[in-house]
Amino acid sequence: MATMESLIGLVNRIQRACTVLGDHGGEGMSLWEALPSVAVVGGQSSGKSSVLESVVGRDFLPRGSGIVTRRPLVLQLHKTESGQEYAEFLHSSKKRFTDFAAVRQEIADETDRITGKSKAISNVPIHLSIYSPNVVNLTLIDLPGLTKVAVEGQPDSIVQDIEMMVRSYVEKPNSIILAISPANQDIATSDAIKLAREVDPSGERTFGVLTKLDLMDKGTSALDVLEGRAYRLQHPWVGIVNRSQADINKNVDMIYARRKEHEYFESSPEYGHLAHKMGSEYLAKLLSQHLELVIRQRIPSILALINKTIDELNAELDRIGRPIAVDSGAQLYTILELCRAFDRVFKQHID
Ligand code: GDP
Ligand code: NA
Ligand code: MG
Repeated sequence: MATMESLIGLVNRIQRACTVLGDHGGEGMSLWEALPSVAVVGGQSSGKSSVLESVVGRDFLPRGSGIVTRRPLVLQLHKTESGQEYAEFLHSSKKRFTDFAAVRQEIADETDRITGKSKAISNVPIHLSIYSPNVVNLTLIDLPGLTKVAVEGQPDSIVQDIEMMVRSYVEKPNSIILAISPANQDIATSDAIKLAREVDPSGERTFGVLTKLDLMDKGTSALDVLEGRAYRLQHPWVGIVNRSQADINKNVDMIYARRKEHEYFESSPEYGHLAHKMGSEYLAKLLSQHLELVIRQRIPSILALINKTIDELNAELDRIGRPIAVDSGAQLYTILELCRAFDRVFKQHID
């Protein structure tokens, strides 16, 4: 019997295949929308990119001041058995990146390709897949940071535009919300928590992440939050210590940073007793487990959609004639095959 891990892998591949061709869900809820993914939400400089890089264990995201993330980045992580580690973009799928600095450059270039060099934002996502033995199977979506004021050169509407874009992702019922708040700011003012509470009042799909624990004022602590006495969500908050700007300037590598984070919690007089439930590695596992759970719960409805998709794909293939060598035919065929695999594996997981 297939493991749950391979099921998430299948979900990943179907999501990817769906985006190549445009979605084949037909009317009503599309297949892409039925499959869960994790949206990363937070204010500017709250640590979103840092958390993502930590979860991946690699430096690959553009950095800088201002609004760096100006298009949604749909990041699919695929755990591989081989030691190989590489990245692929959907927009240039024939190219394999093994140099992650080049991945960062490509994200920046691809952002500019759509938005021009203006600081405008665009709803058109960039799709990136990372294959690595150091990741868990997961789809994460990096979004522009929520902001309260437009900076120079940006239209005033950017504040609302960003909020609308982020909202369009987090309001979908299949969206798992990774709400990032920096511990050195008052959570009462956290844009991420404010939005999450609005779209997910029960908190069942919100994961609160508290970054910058190391930057809190002396004498203050986040224990009330981390132990669930303040700003309680259905899922416990996860505390994180990312690399500081100084670490980044010194090129402190991610794997070392993960270890330092681990040590931070292990040796912390305040948080030591929570160490096993803190940090970016724990967060990655937690999210992956949650994703499994959600997929399990949705198996019947996903199966129904898959069967509908199989019918539609068959009709489409009949229409264009098969076997067919051209790219779109091959792509359709790939989705069809994936859906069939999915159908088989999912049926084994019912009850
Ligand atoms: P984003 O704008 O939300 O994507 O935030 P970034 O991940 O780019 O982080 C903004 C700045 O905060 C960078 O200089 C990071 O090095 C720093 N930073 C993020 N998280 C932490 C943390 O946990 N501790 C410390 N000391 N710095 C952090
Ligand atoms: Na930033
Ligand atoms: Mg960022």
